[in-house]
Amino acid sequence: MGSTVQEDILQQLEVLHREAEAALAQANSSETTQAWHSEYLGRKGRLTGILRNLGSLAPEERPLVGKVANEIKVALEQALQERQAAIAQAELEAMRRAESVDVTLPGRPQTLGKLHITTRMLRDIYKIFAEMGFQVYESPEVETDEYNFQLLNMPPGHPARDMWDTFYTTTPGQLLRTHTSPGQVHAMRQYAPQPIRVIVPGKVYRYEQVTARSESMFYQVEGLAVGKHITFSDLKGVLMNYANQMYGEGREARFRKSYFPFTEPSVEMDIDCVICNRKGCPICKYTGWLEILGAGMVHPLVLQYNGYDPTEFSGFAFGMGPERMALQKYGIDDIRYFYSNDVRLLERV
Ligand code: FA5
Repeated sequence: MGSTVQEDILQQLEVLHREAEAALAQANSSETTQAWHSEYLGRKGRLTGILRNLGSLAPEERPLVGKVANEIKVALEQALQERQAAIAQAELEAMRRAESVDVTLPGRPQTLGKLHITTRMLRDIYKIFAEMGFQVYESPEVETDEYNFQLLNMPPGHPARDMWDTFYTTTPGQLLRTHTSPGQVHAMRQYAPQPIRVIVPGKVYRYEQVTARSESMFYQVEGLAVGKHITFSDLKGVLMNYANQMYGEGREARFRKSYFPFTEPSVEMDIDCVICNRKGCPICKYTGWLEILGAGMVHPLVLQYNGYDPTEFSGFAFGMGPERMALQKYGIDDIRYFYSNDVRLLERV
């Protein structure tokens, strides 16, 4: 028979065992199982606390208590491991459920971007003229009075300058180009006396009233061909081919006399209205015709100023506005939509 002290300790161990098992069943996270371990099996835990009293037992009583204590410890550690594994599994399941993707849900539609209408017009223009042997030639947007006017046969005070009022910089004689025609001057001066076939695209600037048809910043595409025996028929052939490709085969065109100081003779080209087929509509202002560009034979003085002998060389030039042409082509009623940053414009074409 053991002593009362031994019985007392064995009972304490049994109580501890039961309580520990009950507490472990309540633990439902990694944190609570760690706290449970410290409380029951840790260095300052309850089991160690009970075993500290082993010294009060007679030496022969100690092995039994030690054996029971050890069995409880092993059983609790085993139970802890099982509980921890169950909790880890449950936590993993919960995480999987939270992060799961429902593959049966319909996808979110992606809005596809689109090129700006001006860019599309420019690319179409490049392609059509490339097939006729015209190369793209880049020319500066900030120009001098000399290139924008004088070398195009508009000396200071020339009344035709009124057609192209511009923005000046603070440097005297420097301005934002009003048209792409100074590109003609750059190309001729770079290539003279070789033949030329270029188009010059880019932005131009005009100090003018902004309306449904007119912007103060817009694009132009200049065309220039210089060589020997170039005639007005060549100009007509190139422009008719352009109109047929841009607006569809079988377009009718008419050339009206016009005036530009840098071409002689000068014309404006109209095509039959692509929207109403000459029946009359708001886009063609009920005339049945759409103006698409200005053109003419390069003025002999312009050839001479820029390195070509006009008795030997001739050439033609034209200048068109891609935004104006896009208004006509797509039936858009206001040019101000182009640069007001409203994506709905892109959805219209
Ligand atoms: C010129 O600028 C001449 N340099 C064109 C030229 C080149 C003639 C070579 C002869 C030889 P004009 O000012 O008409 O011409 O402009 C040409 C085109 O630019 C017009 O037909 C029109 O399509 C476009 N355009 C003119 N003003 C505006 C504006 N404010 N907003 C949008 N497009 C415009």
